[in-house]
Order: sequence, then C-alpha cells, then structure tokens
Amino acid sequence: MKTLIICFSYHHKNTEKIASAIAKTLGSEVKSPSETDPNAPSDYDLVGFGSGISFGSHYKVLLDFADKLPAVTNKKAFIFSTSGQTGKTTNFHKKLREILQSKGFTVAGEFNCGGFDTYGFLKVLGGIQKGHPDEEDLKQAEAFAKSLIQPAKA
Ligand SMILES: Cc1cc2nc3c(=O)[nH]c(=O)nc-3n(C[C@H](O)[C@H](O)[C@H](O)COP(=O)(O)O)c2cc1C
Repeated sequence: MKTLIICFSYHHKNTEKIASAIAKTLGSEVKSPSETDPNAPSDYDLVGFGSGISFGSHYKVLLDFADKLPAVTNKKAFIFSTSGQTGKTTNFHKKLREILQSKGFTVAGEFNCGGFDTYGFLKVLGGIQKGHPDEEDLKQAEAFAKSLIQPAKA
C-alpha cells in the first residue's frame, strides 16, 4: 500500500516523532505541506495528515493545505496529532476531519497522544506532557498504523 504522510510539526517536533513511527510501520513518505503538491494524494492509496494542536485544532498550515486539496474519490485518509491536553481527539480533529470529508476522503482512523507543551504561561511552569511522545506513545502509534492496514475483524 502506497502511503503518504503530510505532517507539520514545529513546537517541539513532537508530531514529527509520531509521523516517523507511523511511517516506519507503513513504509510511508513523510512530507511537509509546503513541499507537497495538493494533487499528490491521487498517487497514493492512503494519506495521513498530522500536526500539533493550536487553539483546539490542527495547525493552520495543515488546515490551509487541506483546503487546497482537490476533490477525490475512493481515497482513504488518517488523522493524527499531539497536544498538551489529551482525550479530546474528537474535538481537536473536527476541523481537519470535516475538510477531508468534504473533499471526498474516507477517514479510516485517528490518533492523538500527549506532546511536550511549553506554550505561553506553561513555559513558566516547566511545561506539561514532559517526555511525550514517549516510548509507549510511539508503540501505540505503531499499533495504530498496523490497524490501518489490517483487514477489519468480523
Ligand atoms: C501556539 C500554540 C497553541 C497551542 N494550543 C493548544 C491547544 O489548544 N490545546 C492543546 O492541547 N495543546 C495546545 N498546544 C500544545 C501543542 O499542541 C503540543 O505541544 C504539540 O505536541 C506540539 O506539536 P509539535 O511539536 O509537533 O509542533 C499549543 C501549542 C502552541 C505552540
């Protein structure tokens, strides 16, 4: 299965670690939005979209890229992120999920884990989610990647 991962990660390069773990499992190419042609997804069977979370959604750079994608048919996508708060995947992923679905993608799975966060006043406190993504997060990201390519159990 030919897989492309489009990832934007800058705060502590947290999401980049998740992208690498998924890419290792799926044998994917990993690119940033700025180096990806919006028509590129048509050359792949599965396309992953991931970034850190800023003010409750994926980074604007990634959302803007998703907005530029042409409509697709029969194309699978997956969504991932890292964030200071966890357990809010449904809300955090809403904007990106809606854009991808409006373009015709089927979202086959979603993954989120904690990512070291020193934004704003959190810096004074030494940050939250220190050490994340950790080894366990990376293992879970690999398991998530495997679930994307394993046939669903009856
Ligand atoms: C400008 C900014 C805004 C953020 N907003 C949120 C937020 O709304 N919710 C949250 O849980 N984490 C928030 N974070 C924390 C990041 O999502 C988290 O640190 C993430 O792992 C960073 O990913 P990256 O290192 O791949 O860029 C914010 C971080 C920054 C820099």
